[in-house]
Amino acid sequence: MQLKDILLNLRMVMFGGKGGVGKTSCAASSAIWSAEHGRNTLIISTDPAHSLGDSLGVDLPPGVPTPIEGIENLTALEINPKANISELKGLTNINPMEEMGMSGLMENMPLFGDMEELTSLTPPGIDEALAFGKILEFIETEHEYDLVIFDTAPTGHTLRFLSLPETLSGWIGKLIKMRIRIGKMFGAVKRLFSREEKKDDNSLEVLERLNNAILNAREDLTNPIKNSFIIVMIPEEMAITETGRLLNELIKHKIPVSNIVVNQLYQDTTELCVFCKARREMQQKNLVKIKDIFMEKLKKNLIEVPLFKEEIREYNKLKEMGEYLIDKTH
Ligand SMILES: Nc1ncnc2c1ncn2[C@@H]1O[C@H](COP(=O)(O)OP(=O)(O)OP(=O)(O)O)[C@@H](O)[C@H]1O
Ligand SMILES: [Mg+2]
Repeated sequence: MQLKDILLNLRMVMFGGKGGVGKTSCAASSAIWSAEHGRNTLIISTDPAHSLGDSLGVDLPPGVPTPIEGIENLTALEINPKANISELKGLTNINPMEEMGMSGLMENMPLFGDMEELTSLTPPGIDEALAFGKILEFIETEHEYDLVIFDTAPTGHTLRFLSLPETLSGWIGKLIKMRIRIGKMFGAVKRLFSREEKKDDNSLEVLERLNNAILNAREDLTNPIKNSFIIVMIPEEMAITETGRLLNELIKHKIPVSNIVVNQLYQDTTELCVFCKARREMQQKNLVKIKDIFMEKLKKNLIEVPLFKEEIREYNKLKEMGEYLIDKTH
């Protein structure tokens, strides 16, 4: 599927790749394009080191979806991991004293084995987990957006992020089991000490709902009618190796990938200096390799984007990038 059709038809698009190759620029440029083609678009940066606001040339208050002035249908959001830690804590904080209705009574009681296990359970990579929680909100709940574009963090972080549905679901599954055991155990102890009925507690239900949302998100992320991952790379040997690894991992996680953007290509002009000529030659050699591996062998569409003289920032430049990224046929 061409990027144009993806932007016009799918519900989610993720841009990912090695650090500094142009993920944010491609994501922002695509978001402007889809908004201007009538789709109500939300672009979310899941990279804790945000640069989406800088790329769009606007101030984005952390964690707040912000409509972009002057571009109808476009909203941008830089997720705020810090603000969300408290939300996640609320789900895992189970106070044994409260469970028994005996807060304050047995302050120095040694921890039960279960409690120790419970408190030692921390999500793998808290910032990815929190970013994922935020994303769940935009995948698994009703919202007004036709398309959600994700500007992801460099490869390692994003891979851990994409494997989170499995890890988190396992983690929450374990919490649910322990929550049931603890509930039973403390319920029995509580009955020994008091006649009072146990107050309503919906934390199990919350955990189960969260688990379902994670499993559904996993299904949506792997559904080629809903989601596509666009790999961004530069024509250099190290980027080829890393892209190969990224692609393998995405295939392993069943994330649909149909396009690879080769960014920052030196153009063939007679004005090139000796240095630039040498770089262009190196890039052209690597481009042949890239075509051989990714286009011919793996049947991915390749999108070639030139190196611009200026930095790609703000509306006009992002629009210009869009002409190469989306409008030109390859
Ligand atoms: N084709 C291009 N021509 C010229 N400059 C470019 C091009 N693509 C990206 N840039 C510039 O390169 C820098 C990095 O781009 P960008 O922020 O989009 O990369 P990134 O992959 O998102 O980086 P990070 O891994 O840090 O998130 C920016 O200053 C951007 O303006
Ligand atoms: Mg970026």
